[in-house]
Amino acid sequence: MERFDLARALVLEAGEALRNSSLREDEVGCKTGYQDLVTRWDRETEQFLRRGILAAFPGDAIVGEEYPADNPGTGGCTWYLDPIDGTTNFVSQHRNYAVSVGCWRGEEPLFGLVLDVERPALFWAKAGEGAWRDETPLGTSRRRAVPQLLLAAPGVPATFFQENPWRTGALRLAREVRGVRSLGSVALELCALAAGEADLFLAVRSCPWDHNAARIILREAGGALCTLEGEPLPLDRRTTVLAANAREVLEAVLGDYFPAERAGG
Ligand code: IPD
Ligand code: CA
Ligand code: CA
Repeated sequence: MERFDLARALVLEAGEALRNSSLREDEVGCKTGYQDLVTRWDRETEQFLRRGILAAFPGDAIVGEEYPADNPGTGGCTWYLDPIDGTTNFVSQHRNYAVSVGCWRGEEPLFGLVLDVERPALFWAKAGEGAWRDETPLGTSRRRAVPQLLLAAPGVPATFFQENPWRTGALRLAREVRGVRSLGSVALELCALAAGEADLFLAVRSCPWDHNAARIILREAGGALCTLEGEPLPLDRRTTVLAANAREVLEAVLGDYFPAERAGG
C-alpha cells in the first residue's frame, strides 16, 4: 500500500475509535501544567498510528507528540503525528479535536491529513495536487485588507496574555482585524484557512506535530506560512507561526505588525 493510502486508512480507523471512546477523569493527566493535558487516548492513538506505519515502512522515522522518536529512520521519510490535536476540547467537549498526520521526505512535503473527528471531515492534500475536504476542493479566501480578515489564534494565553517578544504586534493585530477566533487546535485552525473560513493564523508556540500536516494542506489551498522572523517554518522544532490566505497578505502583516522581529531586533 502507498504511504498516503495507509495514512488515510489509519487516520480514519483512529477517528472511529475516538468517536466511540469514553473517558474517565482519572484517565486525564497533566504534562507541563493544568493547561497541558494528556489522556490515555492520546497515548493509545499514537501507538496505534506508530504500529501501523512501522509495520509497513520500518525504515521511516516518526516524530509524535507523546513518545520520543524511537527510530532515526533509514527510509528518508519522516512522519509527524499528533494523535489528538485539541486534547482540551476532547476532554471538555468531545468535539473540535483532530488526528493529524503529515509525511515529508527530508524537506520535501509529501502529504498531510487532518481528520476533524466529530464533524466528521477529512482535510487532506498531496503535494502538487491541491487541497481537499473529503471530495470537495479547497481554496483560501480572497480577502486582502486587514479590517476584513478573521484571525485564528489557537493559543490565547501564550500569544496575548503572557509576556513574549511578539505581544505588542499581536495585540494591535487583534484590535485591527475583523475578529479573533480560538478553536484550540492548531491543525483545525490551519485547515479553516485552507477552507476560506479564516484568513490569518498566529501562534507564538507551535510544535512540529501541531502544524506539519496542516501546513501542506494550507499551501496546497493557496495559503502561505512563515515564522514571525519571516523565515520558512522549520520542520523539526517548536516555532512561531504566522499563516495567511495568500503570500501578499502574509508579507503585509509581517511588515506592518512584526517588523522588529523580522529585522532580528
Ligand atoms: C495544542 C492545541 C492548541 C495550541 C497548543 C497545542 P494539543 O495541541 O493545538 O490549540 O494552542 O499550542 O499544543 O496539546 O491539544 O495536541
Ligand atoms: Ca497538538
Ligand atoms: Ca496532541
